[in-house]
Amino acid sequence: MTLPAIPAIVLLTALGSGCGGSSSQHSATATRPEGLPDPQAYAAKMDAKERYWWQRPEQVVELLQCEPGMTVVNLGAGTGYFLPYLSSAVERSGRVLALDVERSMVDIMDRRVTRDHLYNVSPSVVPPDDPALTPRSVDRVLVVNTWHHLSHRVAYAEKLLGALRPGGLVLIVDFDQNSPKGPPVEFRLRPITVVGELESAGFSTQVLEESLPYQYAIAGWIQ
Ligand SMILES: C[S@@+](CC[C@H](N)C(=O)[O-])C[C@H]1O[C@@H](n2cnc3c(N)ncnc32)[C@H](O)[C@@H]1O
Repeated sequence: MTLPAIPAIVLLTALGSGCGGSSSQHSATATRPEGLPDPQAYAAKMDAKERYWWQRPEQVVELLQCEPGMTVVNLGAGTGYFLPYLSSAVERSGRVLALDVERSMVDIMDRRVTRDHLYNVSPSVVPPDDPALTPRSVDRVLVVNTWHHLSHRVAYAEKLLGALRPGGLVLIVDFDQNSPKGPPVEFRLRPITVVGELESAGFSTQVLEESLPYQYAIAGWIQ
């Protein structure tokens, strides 16, 4: 199904509720909306203190099962909300690759890395259809509130599968259908859809138990 490009006002509404994407389109849209939100205003929304109680970042990172020394990707990392947690989880011997399609988000993450001394974190811009990762080079991939932005998700999942080492894991966290937060309902993906996409790409999957009030969490690992 091809959905129309989301008008900027709808994007701003979504940002106000903790999701969106500064200039990125939601799934299956080919064009970018005019009148993009200001990145700094977006950052203020994404990093708002009240997010902590519903986002539960420690719990999300625990579900990712990181170990010291691992290489972890945060795909669609945005303003870098999860980076301090991921940086700590892999410790000094590990690496965090913070990928985003938007230059403005990567600039914000660069500043966060310097400000918070996150020396094992490397932000970079990636193309919309490719995480640009070396085959079998990463151990974990965290994708929060971003999977629904991708246009060709099975093909994208195949690329993630190829980038993961044996024992690797991808964790997708996205908004429930009935959440008061998140993008417009028509852009949300049901867990069964995400499971089907990951399995089509060759992952084994599990819908994880968690206590996130507005989101689900799905793990995909290499069979
Ligand atoms: C709703 S934000 C979530 C940001 C972050 N994961 C968080 O939870 O705070 C979605 C992010 O995904 C990025 N994004 C959208 N499409 C992308 C793509 N194809 N590849 C990489 N990043 C993408 C957007 O630029 C935006 O920063």
